Amino acid sequence: MSKELAVFGLEGKVAVVTGAGAGIGEACARLFAKAGAAVVLGDINVEACERIAAELNGQGLQAKAVRLDVTSEEDWAALKQTLVAWKNRWDVLLNNAGIYIGGMLENNTSAQVSKINQINIESVFLGTRAAVECMKPGACFANGGSIINLSSIAGLIGVPGHSIYGATKGAVRSLTKHSAVEFAKFGYGVRVNSLHPGLIETAMGDQALQDFVDIGVVANVDEAAALLKSAMIPMGRLGNVQDIANAALFLASDASSYVTGIELTVDGGFCAA
Ligand SMILES: NC(=O)c1ccc[n+]([C@@H]2O[C@H](COP(=O)([O-])OP(=O)(O)OC[C@H]3O[C@@H](n4cnc5c(N)ncnc54)[C@H](O)[C@@H]3O)[C@@H](O)[C@H]2O)c1
Repeated sequence: MSKELAVFGLEGKVAVVTGAGAGIGEACARLFAKAGAAVVLGDINVEACERIAAELNGQGLQAKAVRLDVTSEEDWAALKQTLVAWKNRWDVLLNNAGIYIGGMLENNTSAQVSKINQINIESVFLGTRAAVECMKPGACFANGGSIINLSSIAGLIGVPGHSIYGATKGAVRSLTKHSAVEFAKFGYGVRVNSLHPGLIETAMGDQALQDFVDIGVVANVDEAAALLKSAMIPMGRLGNVQDIANAALFLASDASSYVTGIELTVDGGFCAA
């Protein structure tokens, strides 16, 4: 492969993907491994990660499964030890793990807000801190890196039933920009960008469609999908996990070496319309 095209790959890099046991995280972990990275798949569902890692290793790729509850400082510390022992390197962090809690704002509870803040925002802070502590000059690996945070179009625009979820994704967008500028100004060699998917066909995507039914926007999930495709998504289809993995690979690779602090929407034109 020519040098110009090789920058789109991840040969020689070590990538950590959170929430890698299903959906978008699984697709990103698989693509990163195919692109040449040694990939650590972290999730609370460690059995799923072990199954995917065994499959990737069976294909001659490099993968390792770990239990990583993204809200646990102890799990992030253990991850660092795993990286030291495995490849003694860390180049890419995909902060992907997250949950969706929908409903009309007046029906949401403080307990729901605390829970979603912890899993969708605090986790991104913990992961970013763990990564930068390893990647910056003078740190244990000190090879710089790329951090990619999964936000959502709900972090950019208003959507019925998405208030508390969208608020966490807006915070992820903001954390991305602040950390990107801070790390660039201080010469850390660590880029930080956010990805903003539209509705993607995963378990969480199904949950979001069901929520449009539950709050009374449409009668059933088929109607919800049809409404999105016909009236809201210019490209006329829902997104799939590969759409997001492809964009994540660009941000992870050296092809985006002059890109930091951006919000990359991958939404079939939803936010442009
Ligand atoms: N699917 C969509 O339509 C969509 C749209 C925009 C943004 N996103 C974002 O993309 C990311 C992935 O979404 P998805 O659709 O693949 O979700 P998903 O529900 O299909 O998968 C999420 C994964 O995260 C894991 N997870 C949950 N809590 C965790 C924790 N505390 N620690 C570690 N792992 C945990 C789950 O076990 C699961 O494997 C999320 O941040 C989500 O908010 C999704």
